Amino acid sequence: MIPNMDSFGFSSPVLLSAAELKLLQSLVYQECGMCFDERREHFLQDRLQRRLRIRGLDNFSSYYRLLTSPEGKQEFTALLENLTVNETSFFRNKPQLELFQKVILEKILQQKQARRDWTLRVWSAGCSTGQEPYTLAMLIAEALAYYYLRNPLPFSMPMTKPLIPPPWRVEILASDMSYAALRAAQEALYVEHQMEGVDYSYRLRYFDKVGDRYAIKSPVRELVQFDFHNLKTEFLPQRNDIIFCRNVMIYFDEAEQKRLVKKLWRCLNPEGYLFVGHAESLFGLTDQFQMTHLNNGTAYQRTEETV
Ligand SMILES: C[S@@+](CC[C@H](N)C(=O)[O-])C[C@H]1O[C@@H](n2cnc3c(N)ncnc32)[C@H](O)[C@@H]1O
Repeated sequence: MIPNMDSFGFSSPVLLSAAELKLLQSLVYQECGMCFDERREHFLQDRLQRRLRIRGLDNFSSYYRLLTSPEGKQEFTALLENLTVNETSFFRNKPQLELFQKVILEKILQQKQARRDWTLRVWSAGCSTGQEPYTLAMLIAEALAYYYLRNPLPFSMPMTKPLIPPPWRVEILASDMSYAALRAAQEALYVEHQMEGVDYSYRLRYFDKVGDRYAIKSPVRELVQFDFHNLKTEFLPQRNDIIFCRNVMIYFDEAEQKRLVKKLWRCLNPEGYLFVGHAESLFGLTDQFQMTHLNNGTAYQRTEETV
């Protein structure tokens, strides 16, 4: 089908009726929890036009039929990829990362060592192009090296020190619902302007320069496992000591935020910690977490009252 053309041969936007817009909003909401209310309607319309153009369709009802058909799964994925905001950076929100590394991680490592549990599980939920989970990997590696200096383990270390000193095992799971973001994250190559938050000591230790890009070194990459997870679903990774879910629920409405926070509670080990974005808060969403606030950094600890 030929898209609507104006007299100059340019395709003109397909105008959606209020009912069609509502239908699209609710499809997207049901699939991934993202809420496109009046403030973000324009963005939704704009991205829809792109998909219509790519598909060569000139009306919404054909597109809707495609989306909801068995063959429409791929198109739905493409539409959602167009709707996600993947903005991220290395060492984003430094005060919060200080709280994570210097206080919370330290406490968790001590508790784990006391009970001879040497596995640390961290989940970056909504990891975008990987800067967040790789930042966590670097911070954890540094913390463990420092921790090891002060708390010698009851056996000798190999001569060439591994990034994670044994017997510790660090598993960082990083997930997103954008395949494009996950592919970029796995590629682990970043250009200069993406390196803004990375100081020179980190660049030297954890990156290789490849042409004009920076590649994350293999030992750091190997700490991070990438996977597809849609946070709207119930099947999410369990038994995490720490979850970072930052700047994701900002795109959800309050009902969806409440559902997500309940699920994240279940995905944490008892007394585990949840970190949300700078502009996000659990206030009014739950009473299953207790807030820790220090030097401008905030974290939420799972409390054990069952609801
Ligand atoms: C703004 S980025 C945040 C990246 C990183 N957490 C940070 O704070 O820098 C939001 C990410 O959440 C992902 N996202 C949005 N809705 C999602 C959902 N329902 N399930 C999984 N990921 C989702 C998007 O694809 C995007 O990569």
